[in-house]
Amino acid sequence: MDNIIELRKICKSYGERVKTKVLFDIDLQIRKGSFNSIIGSSGSGKSTLLNIIGTLDKPTEGQVIINGTDTRNMNKDQLAELRNTTIGFIFQFHYLLPEFTARENILMPYRISNYNISREIQEWSDKLIDLTGIRDVADNLATDMSGGQQQRTAIARALINRPGIILADEPTGNLDSDTTENIYSLMRDVNREFGTTFLIITHDQRIAEKTDRIIEIRDGRIGLDIVK
Ligand SMILES: Nc1ncnc2c1ncn2[C@@H]1O[C@H](COP(=O)(O)OP(=O)(O)O)[C@@H](O)[C@H]1O
Ligand SMILES: [Mg+2]
Repeated sequence: MDNIIELRKICKSYGERVKTKVLFDIDLQIRKGSFNSIIGSSGSGKSTLLNIIGTLDKPTEGQVIINGTDTRNMNKDQLAELRNTTIGFIFQFHYLLPEFTARENILMPYRISNYNISREIQEWSDKLIDLTGIRDVADNLATDMSGGQQQRTAIARALINRPGIILADEPTGNLDSDTTENIYSLMRDVNREFGTTFLIITHDQRIAEKTDRIIEIRDGRIGLDIVK
């Protein structure tokens, strides 16, 4: 069994008095090392699902199993630790800290749990800076980079703790088509080089077609599920 992510009967409702159900009995298994896309119309439940997989949000019912561990009974600290060591997040808006350089932003998830920056981690951040092609701007403030460079920095940051899983929610949603291509080939390179599992929400059909598996969310349920 090589499933790094497993969802069992996930349901999600929002609201207290008036409940709106947005996810219905979702079962899903994601293979370790695979490169997957999630597609579907706006409001279909894609972000809700990704946030539940990333343990940023809790399902109303069902189980989220990450690396063979059921997350249902984990407390806040345990979940934070799991996220910090196992899952990297990339969002449409990169959320870099503007008062820090690209390099400092990349090291941030490491600093959260480690007081000292070891030589080894410094070398690793250098490697990520090269891999993501931001050497020339690595010491610029986050605000002093192009949109594509900022998103590359966010990708390097997502990789600093060597997570097994990267969850990306429309990571190229506000980038032009050349930069979009670039960012995708970068994520693909990372997938091939480190065996990182990717789950990427995209509305770009051409990008989705290049992934190993396309999962469509339709009205809170899995519609098409195409494995190549
Ligand atoms: N925090 C929330 N509170 C109430 N409703 C929400 C919340 N987040 C999302 N929704 C609703 O859940 C549905 C799915 O949203 P979302 O997962 O963001 O869809 P997608 O990412 O596919 O566009 C939408 O109808 C949205 O309005
Ligand atoms: Mg969304």
